[in-house]
Amino acid sequence: MPLVAASVLSADFTRLEEDIHRVLDAGADWLHLDIMDGHFVPNISYGPGIVGHINRITGAYLDTHLMLSEPGRYAEDFVKNGSDSITFHLEVESDPYPLINRLREMNVRVALTLNPDMPVERVLPYVKDVDMILVMSVFPGFGGQEYIPESTQRIRRIRKQINDDGADCLLEVDGGINPDTCGEAVAAGADVLVAGSAIFGSPDYAATIRALKA
Ligand code: DX5
Ligand code: ZN
Repeated sequence: MPLVAASVLSADFTRLEEDIHRVLDAGADWLHLDIMDGHFVPNISYGPGIVGHINRITGAYLDTHLMLSEPGRYAEDFVKNGSDSITFHLEVESDPYPLINRLREMNVRVALTLNPDMPVERVLPYVKDVDMILVMSVFPGFGGQEYIPESTQRIRRIRKQINDDGADCLLEVDGGINPDTCGEAVAAGADVLVAGSAIFGSPDYAATIRALKA
């Protein structure tokens, strides 16, 4: 059964605390936090201060996706504010090892991702050195986009690498995941499903999360 990471980007920020408790009570395993700088992606979301507030109201696992041109400059701020894992983009750290090593010293889980137009082969050498690979199944920047069908073969390719290497590495998929698209992502080997609009836009969070896990 896959884990479900609810993407807080689609929560109601006028009643964030209530919405977060609702989604966790409904069975979400993790909270997925989308951090956007208006430079790496054409949108701005929220920063470490909000992450700290979220951390103070819940013990939930905070899966933090940095869509930043300079992830290394801000990573520590997120860790200090309670992030349990930090995901950064290979596009902006062509040699990811210095940042991987710094994050290891901060005792936080480390994940790598890349945009849908980057060759999937770019990420394969790192599966044995990180805790998770995130497959972007939309171009990052906004919730509510449609799942890009080619993502499925990217998931399959990374799954094969993880298995071949015997790596202790989770595989997460992010973007356009809903009860209709989750099946093929899980069949291809995804362990963690990020879902924002599908959960927060539904009248019954628990029913949607059950459908994602089924
Ligand atoms: C996109 C973000 C996603 C987004 C997913 O830039 O990385 O995490 O919130 O939203 P949905 O599930 O609505 O596609
Ligand atoms: Zn994300």
